[in-house]
Amino acid sequence: MQFATAAATLLALAAPSLVSAACLEQPPSALGFPINYDITSSRSDAVSFQIPPNSVGPCQLVAKFPAGYPIVSTGDDLVNVTALDGPAPGALVGALRFRAGTTTVINSFACRDVMAYELAIANPTEGWSEVKFSEIQGAGLFMEVGDCSI
Ligand SMILES: *[C@@H]1O[C@H](CO)[C@@H](O)[C@H](O)[C@H]1NC(C)=O
Repeated sequence: MQFATAAATLLALAAPSLVSAACLEQPPSALGFPINYDITSSRSDAVSFQIPPNSVGPCQLVAKFPAGYPIVSTGDDLVNVTALDGPAPGALVGALRFRAGTTTVINSFACRDVMAYELAIANPTEGWSEVKFSEIQGAGLFMEVGDCSI
C-alpha cells in the first residue's frame, strides 16, 4: 500500500516532464540573440537549426509571433522558404507572410542533425519589398521537434 502511494506520487511528478520531453521547440543556431532578419527584394536571408541527434520527429518549421510584435513589412511581403540542405536542396518548402499574433506552420520534415532554409521575397520584381524582424525567445522561426501541439 505504501509502495502504491509512492509510485502514484512518482507518476504525478514525472508526468509534466514527460509532456515537455515529447516536444522540443528549437530556436535557430545563432551566436547570440536577438537574430536580426532582413529579407529584401535584393537580398535573401537564411535560417539554420541544429537538431539533437536521434530526435523522434517530425520536425515542423513554424513562424510564431505574439500579438503586437514589431515586424517591418513593405510591399509584397510574401516570403518563399527554400530548403538549403537535406534530400531536396533548392526545393520550395513553403511561402508565408510574417504577421504578429499568428503561428504559421511552414512545413513538416523528417528530422536531420542540421536543417537550413533560405528566406527570399517571393516576387522581387513587383516593386520594393522588405520583411524585417528580430528573433527572441518566443518570437520568430522555430523547429518544433516531436509531438508539439501548436
Ligand atoms: C517563390 O515561389 C513561387 C512559387 O513556386 C515562384 O513562382 C517564385 O519564382 C519564387 N520566388 C523566388 C524569388 O524564387
